[in-house]
Amino acid sequence: MVENHPVGLESESLRILEKAVNSLSSGFQSMDEFRSIPYDMKLLEDILMQAAERMKDNFPYFHPMYAGQMMKPPHPVARLAYMLSLYINPNNHALDGGRASSRMEKEAVAVIAGMFGWEVFLGHLTGGGTMANLEALWVAGQVNPGKLTVASTQAHYTHDRLSKVLGLPFKTVPADRQGKMDLTALRALLDKEPIGTVVATVGTTATGATDPLPEIMRLQEQYKFRIHADTAYGGYFTLADNLAPATREVYNRLSEVDSIVVDPHKHGQQPYGCGCILFKDPSVGQYYKHDSPYTYFSSDELHLGEISLECSRPGASAVALWATQKLMPPVKNSELAGLLAKGRRAALRLFDLLSADPRFITAFPPELDIIIWAPVAPSVSEASRKSRELFAEAQKNSLHLALADLPLKFFDPEKAGMRRDQDHMVCLRSVLMKPEHEEWVRKIWEVLDHSAKNIGL
Ligand SMILES: Cc1ncc(COP(=O)(O)O)c(C=O)c1O
Repeated sequence: MVENHPVGLESESLRILEKAVNSLSSGFQSMDEFRSIPYDMKLLEDILMQAAERMKDNFPYFHPMYAGQMMKPPHPVARLAYMLSLYINPNNHALDGGRASSRMEKEAVAVIAGMFGWEVFLGHLTGGGTMANLEALWVAGQVNPGKLTVASTQAHYTHDRLSKVLGLPFKTVPADRQGKMDLTALRALLDKEPIGTVVATVGTTATGATDPLPEIMRLQEQYKFRIHADTAYGGYFTLADNLAPATREVYNRLSEVDSIVVDPHKHGQQPYGCGCILFKDPSVGQYYKHDSPYTYFSSDELHLGEISLECSRPGASAVALWATQKLMPPVKNSELAGLLAKGRRAALRLFDLLSADPRFITAFPPELDIIIWAPVAPSVSEASRKSRELFAEAQKNSLHLALADLPLKFFDPEKAGMRRDQDHMVCLRSVLMKPEHEEWVRKIWEVLDHSAKNIGL
């Protein structure tokens, strides 16, 4: 961060952008000179200043004291490469609209596939995790028509909704006390109904829990279903060297699933609008087969629109991801791997502080970089109320947390002397996904402690 610029404006990198735009321009010098339609520079400045004013009405997502939802700024190189590419504004639907950026997308996606150990695959970038999951479920429905798709109750709500959009039969499998898919319940469902696809969430949105892939795969041997891994949030943690052994075992089996969703716009340091879908078997490309009367003429090479449900897609996302991966390759023992490990250490540290404090009740230890906890109170409903109060008080003290309404079975309320008057509890949730969080846990704890005292805890 640059002094006096909390949001991280670096004048040095803006100079690099100017140099890069000049270089890009020089590639088109053979074209006849032309004048673009003029615009009112003063009015532009006024409006941009109005936009800056409006954008102040945001939580400080870039700051380590924002420890709430899954949010952080993109890497500076991603921001710059994205802006650079906007001078062309390529469309990665077809090579007709974005030749260079489509090739960069193919390279960038191959690097992500490599992170999961896949050399042969079919995949592309998407608008985000939801679109990527839509394609995964759609292909799964084509491969196993009429059969049930199941996901845990802790899977992202999108799977239920997308299944409705796609007209696929869908059921949830209960989660166990660790927030993972309950295997006994899965087996019972498998014995009852033909299941075509099991969605395994590796890094749930609420708690970062990983579904037990090795055991799900043991059931797969007997019941023959497809496995889709939703690692929109957790995928990049495959690089971290400090996962608990059982979690590492889950990641080690990821290369065996049929499809993977991962969001570079979460842990891949990208601006929003960058998800990724990968299929292990490239022959699923057959389901995407369509003709376009308008595109696909400029080259016999694969046009990404031929293997994507979205038509227009931002080439800028691909250029930003490509550039970020050149600077920080997503490989083991790398700088990026170190940053992911830092997030987990931050979560473990805050978890230890909270667990040792009788004012708080914690759930299971964090598998990735998300923790959940609640204030201890005479009853669960009272604790839920206190969570909301502490959330608001912390915000007043410039500590930004999140809230989540979660099954009570993740906690042990009796041990904390709490009356079980409802089966779910609103608790506090913190995603410690910024590399700076590790150094800031002490400060986060100080403000949390102070805020807790202010509300009488
Ligand atoms: C596990 C999981 N799947 C899917 C999604 C949806 O992804 P997106 O918000 O990129 O559409 C999320 C978002 O948090 C997620 O955590």
